[in-house]
Amino acid sequence: MIKIIKQLPGRDKLIALLCLALVAGQVWLDIELPDFMAEVVQKLASTEENLTGDILVSGMWMLLCAAGSVALSITVGYLAARIAANFSYTVRASLFNKISDFGTAEMKHFSPASLITRTTNDITQIQMVISMGLQVMVKAPITAVWAVVRILGKSTSLSIVVAVAVLILAITITTVMRFVIPKFRIIQRQVDDVNRVIDESLTGLKVVRAFNADEYQQNKFERVNLNLTATNLFTMRTMSFMGPIIGLVMSSIQLVIYYIGAIIVNGINLGDTSPTGELINTVKVLKDTRADFFADLVVFGSYAMMVVMSFMMLTMIFMILPRAQVSAKRIREVLDEEISVQSGNAYVPNDKEIEGAVESAADPIGTIEFKNVSFHFPGSNENFMKNLNFQVTQGQTLAIIGSTGSGKSTLLNLAARLYDATEGEVLIDGHNVKDYPFEVLYKKVGLIPQKATLFADTIRDNVTFGDRHAKISEEDVMAALDIAQATEFVMKKEGGLDFMVSQGGSNISGGQKQRLAIARAIAKKPEILLFDDSFSALDFKTDRLLRKEIAEKLKDTTCVIVASRIGTIKNADCILVLADGEIVGKGTHRELLKSCDVYREIAQSQLTEAELEA
Ligand SMILES: Nc1ncnc2c1ncn2[C@@H]1O[C@H](COP(=O)(O)OP(=O)(O)O)[C@@H](O)[C@H]1O
Ligand SMILES: [Mg+2]
Repeated sequence: MIKIIKQLPGRDKLIALLCLALVAGQVWLDIELPDFMAEVVQKLASTEENLTGDILVSGMWMLLCAAGSVALSITVGYLAARIAANFSYTVRASLFNKISDFGTAEMKHFSPASLITRTTNDITQIQMVISMGLQVMVKAPITAVWAVVRILGKSTSLSIVVAVAVLILAITITTVMRFVIPKFRIIQRQVDDVNRVIDESLTGLKVVRAFNADEYQQNKFERVNLNLTATNLFTMRTMSFMGPIIGLVMSSIQLVIYYIGAIIVNGINLGDTSPTGELINTVKVLKDTRADFFADLVVFGSYAMMVVMSFMMLTMIFMILPRAQVSAKRIREVLDEEISVQSGNAYVPNDKEIEGAVESAADPIGTIEFKNVSFHFPGSNENFMKNLNFQVTQGQTLAIIGSTGSGKSTLLNLAARLYDATEGEVLIDGHNVKDYPFEVLYKKVGLIPQKATLFADTIRDNVTFGDRHAKISEEDVMAALDIAQATEFVMKKEGGLDFMVSQGGSNISGGQKQRLAIARAIAKKPEILLFDDSFSALDFKTDRLLRKEIAEKLKDTTCVIVASRIGTIKNADCILVLADGEIVGKGTHRELLKSCDVYREIAQSQLTEAELEA
């Protein structure tokens, strides 16, 4: 928790210190109040006359103290709110930053739902502690200690009363907390669950509807919702014990103080044994003693109240602190997560490469090479991809085919460095992909993932996606859309390029999404394009046109095409046949028909005899 709070910017730390000073001032004013009250009481009870003026003066001081205390309290509240909100802002930003670096391996540790709870609800918990903390957490102990110091030495028996009260409170609070604290971790987890079910139901809305699974999903939700409610109820109910007990202690302490006080006051004898002449004097003196003592009593009562009140404030903190601590831990878990695929720094690009205009004569461009690459998924220790070796040079088209689950996507992910090879080397333009800074690597490589992802933005912004806005001209966007066979449907949309795509691209068809995703990669003008089954959602005609355009207009671009249709890849320069993570065939369509059983089977299932002969 403290580690997280340390993230506050320096200026806010100063303001926090100022808050503490102001709180101390406020406590001082609060503590002064009873002293003035004592004066008033003393004067009222004593035998002197014409006191109205004096009492008014004391009263004015009391008012001033109270007003000052209120003013300070408001200022502290204002500053504390600012610091807390600032804190949330900072931590949310660093969390989001961190999560943006997450790869597939890291996402395994945290579900998206949990990450959302952590960036929102968990931060709110800490925000609350900071704003309350600055106001109360400091005030309570200072008040308690200060008041105790004032009480000490006034009366032993009364001090004992306060001590007992404090003890009772301490026992109550610790007992309750013992039951409640373990539940807080559970509560945050259950909030994750609720988020998860909502997320799943919303993203799967169509499926839920089509399979009449409304009730099924509702039951799921009901379950997680009930769980969360039950835990919340338990903690709230347990904590509700504290209120009445504290109230009881507060009332009792007042009663007891005045009871004992009364006995002591009565014990001060007004006596009448002195000679008549002196009697009045003595009575007067004794009366004054009684008045003094009564004044002391009032002061004592007030201080005792303050001690108990500060305990009550502490309880409030104890109610939110444990939960915030759990939250802080959850946030740290995310911030401390080690990112397995880090941006490289061994390769120092020249300025031109950063600009995107790669013309360095020394290095080859647009080449990919796999050297003895093996790979296993994080969490498993058996190699899934085994001993991959192949090479593609600039302008070539490499096709990859194989049954579902044979590792085609995984191979592309290795080339695009979404995973790191466990053994062997993946080289792009002669350098290991691990050595490239991300920004250089992703200038060279354009990946079109199997599942097209669009963002809630205009079509133009989706195609120029990223910070390349200024650099990609309208013509380039149109050219990319042309190649991707997307111009026609885009122009039919209302607003054309300015048509708003909704989140996840739910307002355009699957094939259209695919084409926009392709246009996005092409607009970037990378040296290498990686198509992961990107043509699967296209009809045969569009598929053919698109490939023709790519072949004509992107002659110098290296293409790696994962496809399931033989027709899509027949003309590729080289075809890799994958099975169970291994390359079982390598060559052109004709060569493979002769040499590779797996390839022949796939071909036979898709092509007619005549086509096979052709
Ligand atoms: N993150 C992952 N962790 C463990 N196994 C995975 C992961 N992603 C994919 N797999 C497994 O790896 C195999 C290959 O997946 P993939 O490369 O996507 O196949 P495809 O050839 O259909 O594209 C599949 O059997 C899949 O279950
Ligand atoms: Mg795949």
